[in-house]
Amino acid sequence: MEFFIDSADIEAIKELNAFLPIDGVTTNPTIITKSGRQPEEVLEELTEVLSEDQKIFAQVIATDYEGILAEAHEIASLRGGKNVLVKIPVSREGLKAIPVLKAEGTGVLATGIYSADQAFWAAKAGADYLAPYVNRMCNYGDGVGQVVELVDTLALYGLDAKVCAASFKNVDQVHQLLAAGTPAVTVAPDVIRAMVDHPGTAIAVDEFTANWQKAYGRTTLRA
Ligand code: G3P
Repeated sequence: MEFFIDSADIEAIKELNAFLPIDGVTTNPTIITKSGRQPEEVLEELTEVLSEDQKIFAQVIATDYEGILAEAHEIASLRGGKNVLVKIPVSREGLKAIPVLKAEGTGVLATGIYSADQAFWAAKAGADYLAPYVNRMCNYGDGVGQVVELVDTLALYGLDAKVCAASFKNVDQVHQLLAAGTPAVTVAPDVIRAMVDHPGTAIAVDEFTANWQKAYGRTTLRA
């Protein structure tokens, strides 16, 4: 499975990438604006911070077919095209652009997905990844359940698109989709930290150290 960081916060990406086997970074226009920096700068820095084996996902801003294609070409040329994928919202124009980009060999993630039905069409259009917005879908029903069902539907028809579940607000949503075998997830830094940093572990480690210190007068294995 693949685990991506959903962020354009370079410091947060460096922090998490230093100790977790992260498969890449996904961004979107809002995420980039939140960085408070110019998009070119952010994307350039992502290519410096991540290895070439780690994927970078950047989204088109244009909403018309020609504009989507032009911006997709620009994004796809980043880092010589190595493991760079273009995010395209599943609008009518976006769905029209996806097969064209695929035929050119560009990696595509269909994004802004609010229903399994939209995801189905994006998969049939040839998208490599599908990003259902899990938490936002929960506003309309069982977002987690719909994504689990989507993974099964894709398998049923032998569609190659990988679900990359996105828009998580808490660890439980991520947990449920990981337990269901979702092939990829993209998660914001605060939720990733909450997955890793359980306060119980810190208490247990402090207790081990205190007991060792009391018994042997040191905090290392050997004196
Ligand atoms: O990757 C898509 C995601 O960033 C949307 O998340 O938190 O705006 O619902 P959110």
